[in-house]
Amino acid sequence: MFIGKKDVNKAELLALMEQVKSKPLPQHVAIIMDGNGRWATKRGLPRVAGHRQGVEALREVIKTSDELGIKYLTLYAFSTENWKRPATEVDALMSLLVEYLRKEIQELNSNNVKISVLGHVEAFPPIAQREIANAVEITKNNTGLNVNIALNYGGRAEIVRAAKAIARDVLDKKISLDDIDERLFSRYLYTAGIPDPDLLIRTSGEFRLSNFLLYQIAYTELVFTDSDVLWPDFDKRAYLEAIMEYQRRQRRYGGLIADEGTV
Ligand code: FPP
Repeated sequence: MFIGKKDVNKAELLALMEQVKSKPLPQHVAIIMDGNGRWATKRGLPRVAGHRQGVEALREVIKTSDELGIKYLTLYAFSTENWKRPATEVDALMSLLVEYLRKEIQELNSNNVKISVLGHVEAFPPIAQREIANAVEITKNNTGLNVNIALNYGGRAEIVRAAKAIARDVLDKKISLDDIDERLFSRYLYTAGIPDPDLLIRTSGEFRLSNFLLYQIAYTELVFTDSDVLWPDFDKRAYLEAIMEYQRRQRRYGGLIADEGTV
């Protein structure tokens, strides 16, 4: 199902909000925020203007997740492949991240949001690492919405890293080979202790996972927006519609539901 772009007024938004709240909500929503560059190019603006506008969409999605009582929000902000972009764009993304954290951390903290990071941030410029560490530290005891920001993250790299750490622990005799099962493996991922996403949303009409949460999304419901909904266009209504699409799905985890006939 595609989520399209429509105009919506405040009353409609409130009604949508109530409708979404009346049904089971995803506990964990993961988002591939795609299309910032195209949003800017369509307007004759530099790509970084799209990323800047993308931050506004991000703020709205965090706010709405909080209002709905969603417990975990995981955002793909910078992949291991994003280093291939021109240095000017990479630098702009780093600056935007630093600016965003500096500007928003107090408000996020006062809203009880807990920030965590998934990925190898040690490769980021020291100033970005400091700001990230600060945001994680300030919010570490918060008990509201968990916002996980994937930075220098790649699903395959995460799995390889986990396999290495497990091998190391076997060699060091901290665990035995027979201890290794899916539960134990999960504990070696960046997402240790976080339930798997119930819903994954990708904007901009691309049907790819782009190396995001490969281990964790085995049974996740996938929702892709229309190609005219680029990340900066992803407003509250689009988010609520994506959740409504999730609420229409029947999750079976490989099993059957009650009325699927007799054997
Ligand atoms: C994809 O659009 C988006 C990104 C690679 C970066 C996402 C970043 C933000 C939303 C803002 C910065 C994040 C934080 C946490 C402050 P694209 O550039 O691939 O778009 P395109 O496919 O149209 O080129």
